[in-house]
Amino acid sequence: MRKLAALLIIFSVLLFTHCGESPKQKAEPVEIADATDASGDADEDLQSPLKIALGKKLFFDPILSRDSSVSCASCHIPAYAFSDTSALSTGVGGLKTERNSPSLVNIALHPYFMREGGNPSLEVQVFVPLEGENEMHLPMGMAIDRLKQDESYTKLFKEAFGKEPNAFGITRSLAAYERTILGGSTRYDQFLDGDAQALTALERHGYELFTSDELNCSKCHEGGMLSNFAFENNGTKSKYEDRGRARLTLQTEDEGKFKTPSLRNVALTAPYMFDGSFKTLGEVVDHYAAGGQGHPNQSELLNGFELEQEDRRALIAFMESLTEEQLYLP
Ligand code: HEC
Ligand code: HEC
Repeated sequence: MRKLAALLIIFSVLLFTHCGESPKQKAEPVEIADATDASGDADEDLQSPLKIALGKKLFFDPILSRDSSVSCASCHIPAYAFSDTSALSTGVGGLKTERNSPSLVNIALHPYFMREGGNPSLEVQVFVPLEGENEMHLPMGMAIDRLKQDESYTKLFKEAFGKEPNAFGITRSLAAYERTILGGSTRYDQFLDGDAQALTALERHGYELFTSDELNCSKCHEGGMLSNFAFENNGTKSKYEDRGRARLTLQTEDEGKFKTPSLRNVALTAPYMFDGSFKTLGEVVDHYAAGGQGHPNQSELLNGFELEQEDRRALIAFMESLTEEQLYLP
């Protein structure tokens, strides 16, 4: 499966670099092998402070978008747990993304990336927004040329990687920074550590509902990460235009299946679902209470349920307790 995902990405990288070149700026061939080689130099510290600092600068710098209007942080806004506040985000030229931008907090703990899981590493993931037409639309070769023309970047790449700007350094430094966007400071974490009082009585009641066999939430949103990272159809639609996991596997049984999102910081990441079609946590709860839209692949764990007003409030309060009080950031 991972091989398939990698092939797909490399294929799309090739595709984008070909159709994305403007006649004036001739891009150098993309160093795909270099950029996707996970091993690197065995002695190299890929999480060195210099690499992290460089990745952070790149993350917030619109230099990586075709018209220098959009940075990674435009769609992954720190104040919203590194997600976006609109259903679909805006890339270069005002174009909209196909999906809702997910939170990057604790992203290092995900086993694979993108909502259909089509991406094996944070390094390879960089190509998706960088080259995507409706995101940053800058072929890797052009990105390298641009950074080479910038004295401060040339210096920073030399210091961090001992080389001029290249695909290896761009992908490694961004991934190094992303790996530092870690939390672990929610009151729910304290609760799991044995401090029952870390949650209010209302939130604890919400937790009981969340983990109950009637609601089944924790069967998919499980453990500390509040995700099993499996591909599930939670009945958001009766018919999916976005095929979800089937985009990758082309299997009917995967239609409408998406990576179960972590609910950490969910109070900050509205709107919800792959297309941002639910505006509030209340709307999400009502969706599950109604038992979903009944797509043929919908999980059998969604049976619908009835909640008193107070229970509904408790369930929402529990989800609102999942906000990081502080992030570990360089
Ligand atoms: C124009 C908006 C936009 C920009 C710019 C953007 N992203 Fe994203 N990002 C998204 C969207 C939308 C998704 C969801 C993609 C999907 O699941 O198909 C996403 C997904 C991701 C993921 C996978 C998250 C997961 O849960 O699997 C990572 C990692 C990521 N972006 C990192 C970056 C980095 C690094 C940059 C800058 C190089 C960047 N993004 C720039 C919108 C954006
Ligand atoms: C069968 C597995 C499953 C069960 C059971 C389940 N969920 Fe989900 N949940 C998902 C998936 C998959 C998504 C993402 C769907 C999408 O992207 O459209 C999701 C999305 C969400 C979101 C939106 C998160 C975001 O960032 O967009 C919330 C909130 C949520 N679920 C809460 C709950 C609650 C509360 C319950 C119990 C009443 C529950 N879930 C039960 C699988 C499940």
